[in-house]
Amino acid sequence: MHHPDIFQKKKLKEIMKITSIFLVAGILSFVVASCNNSGSDKNSDIKAGVTKTSWGEFDGKKVELFTLVNHKGDTVTITNYGGTITSFVVPDKNGNRSSVIIGFDSLQTYLQKPPYFGALVGRYANRIGGAQFTLNNNEYKLNPNDGKNTLHGGLKGFDKVVWDATVPSDSVPSIELNYVSKDGEEGFPGNLKVMVKYTLTDDHELKIEYNAETDKPTPLNLTNHSYFNLSGRVTNSILDESLWIDADKYTPVDSTLIPTGEILDVKGTPFDFTSAKKIGVSIDSVKGGYDINYVLNRKDSSSLQKVAEVKDSISGRTMEVYTTQPGLQFYTGNFLDGKFINRYGNPITQHSALCLETQHFPDSPNKPGFPTTTLNPGEKFHQETVYKIKVNE
Ligand code: BGC
Repeated sequence: MHHPDIFQKKKLKEIMKITSIFLVAGILSFVVASCNNSGSDKNSDIKAGVTKTSWGEFDGKKVELFTLVNHKGDTVTITNYGGTITSFVVPDKNGNRSSVIIGFDSLQTYLQKPPYFGALVGRYANRIGGAQFTLNNNEYKLNPNDGKNTLHGGLKGFDKVVWDATVPSDSVPSIELNYVSKDGEEGFPGNLKVMVKYTLTDDHELKIEYNAETDKPTPLNLTNHSYFNLSGRVTNSILDESLWIDADKYTPVDSTLIPTGEILDVKGTPFDFTSAKKIGVSIDSVKGGYDINYVLNRKDSSSLQKVAEVKDSISGRTMEVYTTQPGLQFYTGNFLDGKFINRYGNPITQHSALCLETQHFPDSPNKPGFPTTTLNPGEKFHQETVYKIKVNE
């Protein structure tokens, strides 16, 4: 329980901090795009658009922070360092705004390599066993960075590079991020051009579109690694949030979190979220907590389908996840150890946030039974994911 005074003080501090973010954004930034307000939401005077502020430098490149605002007053902040989402601020059931995505207010913190908070992950999201694979009879060796395995692209994945950002003149606030991953980067073959577009709609939706092309066959698996706490506070455990996942099957893993190659039924296991249940209900039967890939029931990969839903009773917020991807990594922040402190001064501890990473299955390049992750020259890679917040008012 919070002592009411401390609680009030903390709340005041939070409000001041959020207000100062907006003030700084307002004073320092310049409008790089703004959207016509005569559109979808006639009840609102809020001007939707995108602003940017200078956020530092890395690898000799300018790092910026973009703020997307919709007509409802929701904001998403994204930096071109790692294509990282640093906040997604939406109202709760009382109209109070806070970020459902965990993040930090300075580039310095991201340079200390927090575990992929909000980042774009590539060239291969999740693990590739033994840091190697064979493709078209050629053997490729990657940089191992997770024991013997490669995790989230290797030593310097897409989360640790500066992307080129542009603000399209769309009617909905959005930014486009481009990155060219060179042939041989982290051991992967082919020059790969990646374009990721983030959009904030008036329906409290954060949409992510991934596009890529290559000049040599390469494995490719792109995701965003946002950590969510729907209550907006890491002091509330996500074990009390309830979760539904539209998956009858999952891919079990060995002790180093590499899939065994089997595809098993969730029925009768702690992995069963086919009916919504509190995340904490059976977590003790899963060693270390949930860190597992679900085989989504969705069959049609050409359109977005709802694949998961999280509910938080404290804030009254629900998050729906829609995707075109075949898999979903459900991770309960098992390795979060309090080392990183969030923007409100709270340590980010185990189970204080969760990830729902839409993706292809881990280690697919070494698992012939999994859907292929090979992108060939001439093919256009395209995936979409939407995180939609709903509020019980
Ligand atoms: C992985 C975890 C890993 C986490 C942070 C998740 O996608 O499944 O095993 O610890 O990312 O790196």
